Amino acid sequence: MEADPRFRFVQGDICQAAAVEPLVAEADAVVNFAAETHVDRSLLDPGSFINTDVYGVYVLLEALRRTGGKARFLQISTDEVYGSVEAGSSREEDPPRPRSPYSASKAGGEMMAQAYFETYRLPVLITRGSNTFGPYQYPEKVIPLFITNALDDVPLPLYGDGLNVRDWLYVEDHCAAVDLVLHEGQAGEAYNVGGGNERTNLAVTELILQLVGKPRSLIAFVSDRPGHDRRYSLDCAKIGRLGWRPAHPFEDALRRTVEWYVQNEWWWRKLKTGEYADYYRRNYAHRRQSRQPAGAE
Ligand code: TYD
Repeated sequence: MEADPRFRFVQGDICQAAAVEPLVAEADAVVNFAAETHVDRSLLDPGSFINTDVYGVYVLLEALRRTGGKARFLQISTDEVYGSVEAGSSREEDPPRPRSPYSASKAGGEMMAQAYFETYRLPVLITRGSNTFGPYQYPEKVIPLFITNALDDVPLPLYGDGLNVRDWLYVEDHCAAVDLVLHEGQAGEAYNVGGGNERTNLAVTELILQLVGKPRSLIAFVSDRPGHDRRYSLDCAKIGRLGWRPAHPFEDALRRTVEWYVQNEWWWRKLKTGEYADYYRRNYAHRRQSRQPAGAE
């Protein structure tokens, strides 16, 4: 991939003010994708989430304020800030009810961004994306985890009864929404970005097995994630008024994603060693396992 001269890719610690200040000072836009993002890891180590997802946002905002930078600041957030949604769909003005250290950290980051808009008039925007998937996703997240496990004939650890619901959003649709909000969104506002593909985890798992060509017997129902949110659902009318609609049907996008992981083993296989293997043991080794959902006959 050729580097686009309009963008500066920075790898480093967003909690280091001295490192980010010169960059944000001259930027036209700051889009903060930097985050600790995996709920299961947040249950094992909440501190690193507070550091990156709350303090890191503050460092970026403060760098803008201190340098007098003129950039629009887009904070990438998540539908998880609304907490579990038993019925209906979340609207932007609904109160945050985060329930995991991850979602609480993301809600904290959003609130800090909002505070810098209200207090210092920084042009801050927020997007709340639903569960995103596609190529190059780190294999701790359920879709790449289950694809790569299935390719290796390793059991797919499905939490609880497998009937938790997530709204799946293809990465290219998510990027298009971020680009639109950055350019057309109103400062101080949040925008929901949902794929409109609510599926149970069991349905997604069965589709992955079908696409990879592996048997259903690979599904291992395991004890649930503590505090596991039952369902997320977004009302996306607001970003719809800016002109955004997801363009990728879920089943097609999942097929393309499976094909990508089949063809790019060189990318993911090396990631599933070392620290990842240690995390996998810590997160999964203690879970009770059955071929049926816990509690089912
Ligand atoms: P995940 O990809 O971790 O996203 P999030 O928790 O942020 O929504 O998980 C998506 C869903 O899949 C969620 O309901 C938890 C479930 N899940 C499993 O059943 N087994 C797993 O090993 C993982 C990682 C997730």
